[in-house]
Amino acid sequence: MLPTIEIPSILPHLRRATRPYHDEVEQNPFNQALTAGTVTAAATARFLSRMYGFVQPYEAELRAQAAHFGPAWELDQRYRAPLILADLAQLGSPAGPPLCPALPPLGTRPQLLGAMYVLEGSSLGGQVIARQLAQAGIAGRSYFGGRAERTGPLWKAFCQQLEAAATTAETQAAITTSAIHTFRTLTSWLNC
Ligand code: HEM
Repeated sequence: MLPTIEIPSILPHLRRATRPYHDEVEQNPFNQALTAGTVTAAATARFLSRMYGFVQPYEAELRAQAAHFGPAWELDQRYRAPLILADLAQLGSPAGPPLCPALPPLGTRPQLLGAMYVLEGSSLGGQVIARQLAQAGIAGRSYFGGRAERTGPLWKAFCQQLEAAATTAETQAAITTSAIHTFRTLTSWLNC
């Protein structure tokens, strides 16, 4: 009988490999203003518009491939682009922000999972941002904070599904490459 080869779990590696890119995206001007206590409603609307430009086409691709995801992925609870539009309306910003024309390739399942890791993970930082915006008295916080007490369970469930999907070294490498690509593209898009 052939020996079973255990492959290591993907998450610790994915975290390590993407940490510098997380640190980079965290340094965007909106988050710097939040930390400095100088954030405005206009800066919030601008940041939300840029996030919409990225999240909308990513979620369109996820919806297009949704048939390949079982119910345990809870995709229906994960789409957040409509929340951004609601927040922008509350902030008095016109609908229809420009869409990012150059998303990373999302055509394969590992590519989509890498992007999903980045955008699902962003809901964790979103909770922090929602609290900072509340302190600053700025409305339009449903995108950042809307998952509320479901944030932790949804993230945990996502991590379990990701582990179960990343069963070969090739798949793990493709997910990691896509996550790095997603972080870098998002950072450029948010900062231009
Ligand atoms: C759009 C920008 C951001 C993206 C795409 C993003 C992405 C991610 C990802 C993928 C993770 C999961 C890491 C893991 O445990 O595997 C994460 C975790 C986290 N992020 Fe961010 N993030 C963003 C901005 C921020 C900001 C601005 C903050 C702080 C205000 C922040 C704070 C956190 C925190 C506290 C965690 C949880 C770390 C932990 O539990 O160990 N993030 N983020």
